[in-house]
Amino acid sequence: MKSIIWCCIILTTFCLIKIIDGQQRKKDGQSLGERVQQLTDMNIKRSILRFNGNKFRDYVKATPRNYSVIVMFTAMAAQRQCAICRLANDEFQIVANSFRYSQIYSNKLFFALVDFDEGPDVFQMLRLNTAPVFMHFPPKGKPKQSDTMDIQRIGFAAEAITKWIAERTDVQIRVFRPPNYSGTVALVMLFAVVAGFLYLRRNNLDFLYNKNCWGIGAVFFCFAMVSGQMWNHIRGPPFVHKASSGGVAYIHGSSQGQFVLETYIVMILNAAVVLGMILMTEAASHKGDVRKRRILSIVGLVLVATFFSLILSIFRSKAHGYPYSFLFK
Ligand SMILES: *[C@@H]1O[C@H](CO)[C@@H](O)[C@H](O)[C@H]1NC(C)=O
Repeated sequence: MKSIIWCCIILTTFCLIKIIDGQQRKKDGQSLGERVQQLTDMNIKRSILRFNGNKFRDYVKATPRNYSVIVMFTAMAAQRQCAICRLANDEFQIVANSFRYSQIYSNKLFFALVDFDEGPDVFQMLRLNTAPVFMHFPPKGKPKQSDTMDIQRIGFAAEAITKWIAERTDVQIRVFRPPNYSGTVALVMLFAVVAGFLYLRRNNLDFLYNKNCWGIGAVFFCFAMVSGQMWNHIRGPPFVHKASSGGVAYIHGSSQGQFVLETYIVMILNAAVVLGMILMTEAASHKGDVRKRRILSIVGLVLVATFFSLILSIFRSKAHGYPYSFLFK
């Protein structure tokens, strides 16, 4: 009888321990094996895993771990205007791909990124206020000072990142940069088009000496440069933006930035001023009917005055504190 009671007590205790253990496990999230399996599965689709706050806690902060994670904290949304984030992302992608498709690929190193707009809580938790930041999360313990890559000192070229990773883990990645021929192809095509055109017109090359032809080309080049197309190309600003008052803002409110549409507006205003100037110089050229030339000169003057004032008022709205205006406020 006594032994049966003992048996029952032992059995119940055993069951209780099992249940408590199971609950504990559920609370901790998945087991290490499951986590590694999921990371590996995700890694099949993309070489850089994209984490929001929850996933970051589940996979990077969770313990125990037997893998390293290299995380890039970044802000790639257009409105964040982080131009170097894009460059850093390209280099990071090269590193992750070089690892993912190499012989040494294994499940002891993963690459991930957290975008500020998807996991602001992570930035807060780690007290990050800049981007991009590269951090190494080692298999054991918390990241130390040296587990944050010093971009100011070593930059973020793929080679620098792999060297830094090799110092933190025992993974030596050889950088493979996919060759980029698009620039060469474009140049060859441009030459081919120009050569073909010259060949077709070989009997009449006078247009090469045509001043108007070169003049129009030069003026258009000026429009493109003065209106900031090169800036657009480098910084990639948004086309327009939501204004703080609710509507749509076509003009960036400060001289530190610009929108794509704004540059087109500036280009058109400049073109109108130039057109007015041309009309006036034509009118002053002592050729043709006097009345017609008088009208031309007045139209030109109105164009120049109006559109110059418009440009000036746009400039005033951007460069706060600029004192002068003309016609319009
Ligand atoms: C980490 O642990 C999991 C589960 O035990 C295992 O499947 C995986 O291979 C381990 N990874 C390494 C790099 O040892």
